[in-house]
Amino acid sequence: MKVLVIGSGGREHAICRAFRKSPKVTQLYCANGNAGIAQIAECVPIRPDDIGALADFAAANAIELTFVGPEVTLALGIVDLFESRGLRIVGPSREAAQLEASKAFAKDFMARNGVPTAKFTMSHSADFAVLELESGDFGGPENPVVVKADGLAAGKGVVVAKNRADAINAINEMAALVGTAAAEKIVLEECLTGREVSLLMFVDGEQFALMPPVRDHKRIGEGDTGPNTGGMGTITDAGLLTDDQLQEIKDTIIRPTLHGCIREGFRYRGILFLGLMMTAKGPMLLEYNVRFGDPETQAILVRLETDLVDICAAMLEVGGTAATPLSSLEIKWRAGSSACVVLASEGYPGKPRTGDPIRGLAEAAAMPNVEIFHAGTMSEAPASAGGQLAQGRGAPLPEPSLVTAGGRVLGVTATGTDLNAALASAYAAVAKISFDGMQFRRDIGK
Ligand code: AMP
Ligand code: GLY
Repeated sequence: MKVLVIGSGGREHAICRAFRKSPKVTQLYCANGNAGIAQIAECVPIRPDDIGALADFAAANAIELTFVGPEVTLALGIVDLFESRGLRIVGPSREAAQLEASKAFAKDFMARNGVPTAKFTMSHSADFAVLELESGDFGGPENPVVVKADGLAAGKGVVVAKNRADAINAINEMAALVGTAAAEKIVLEECLTGREVSLLMFVDGEQFALMPPVRDHKRIGEGDTGPNTGGMGTITDAGLLTDDQLQEIKDTIIRPTLHGCIREGFRYRGILFLGLMMTAKGPMLLEYNVRFGDPETQAILVRLETDLVDICAAMLEVGGTAATPLSSLEIKWRAGSSACVVLASEGYPGKPRTGDPIRGLAEAAAMPNVEIFHAGTMSEAPASAGGQLAQGRGAPLPEPSLVTAGGRVLGVTATGTDLNAALASAYAAVAKISFDGMQFRRDIGK
């Protein structure tokens, strides 16, 4: 089977690795990919927002299965486009992708379908949002309140303001921070307290199959300090949710969500990601994502034992001809826990410095229970050009040397019989790797 993966981060490296393990996959392509992905897949230079070119590529190369990493690609309607051209693709439709692409859409959907979530209002301008705050709906001037831009903002569109004055600043600065399109509508939310956990699942339109619960560490600094990032590390561990909590999430959040999608006329198919806050009043939904998370995926997929191709077939063929539908596919996960520690460049999450040589990667990757996923990495000389030059001179092929090429550079991931074992392996591998300006958190999973 010929498979195409779309995206170029650590998440997509983990997805490519999972497809590579499948004996059914004969050829694997990735658009755009990165230096790590290039070692296991053929990278093609098509941007994730050029959905027309992606469909042309899939048709011309007889791709039999396409899997999408990033939300932008889904929000642009790649699934509708591929389906209209008879191309097999896993993911939600453009309409279903609104659950992530518009926070106002998602909050209204939750309210219509009785999904527990923070109290909220939606304003069509910054001025109205400020008036809303001053009306006192979110408590007095000392009360914390959460300010969110409506549209996709690559993790930058949420500010948890500690009081009204900070919230007003956040409202007024939102358009400059995330762009006027994403900030056209502003959502204000009651600030919830509790432990955060994420739950991802495979969905076939009716049934769902849960993945291990996962926790992300979003702030750059240890002890959850400093600005938000795309994610500095993740763990999977059964202890993140009790059986009772899981049951409550299924009953109050997952089933109402999937029924809501069917009732409102859009079938949800693909990966559904719930960002949850476990409050004193029970689980509340912070957000939907319509795709795998980054770096959640790295920690989740290292534990997947079932063939990802079989899971995709089951998601795609509800009521159809799949050998095993999702409802009866037994998805197996390696027992124990996992951890992913992100190594980031100097300057991240602001403007990252790039071009720093990465040392120690091979030694780290050879350690037991460790898998390293690339995000912002680049071969210093393109492997093919470098190889040809070297061969022309009769010299042996050099190991391609890698340099940093983005904010988040590597996701050092390990499994273990329990969380401490997974963390110990991940940090032992981290200790082998270095590049100038390298930043990472020493308290992942603590
Ligand atoms: P989101 O992109 O909606 O998940 O928000 C990003 C982060 O902001 C979440 O992971 C939470 O840490 C925080 N957050 C979002 N909404 C709320 C809320 N209503 N109360 C408290 N924290 C929140
Ligand atoms: N790590 C958070 C996300 O992928 O949305």
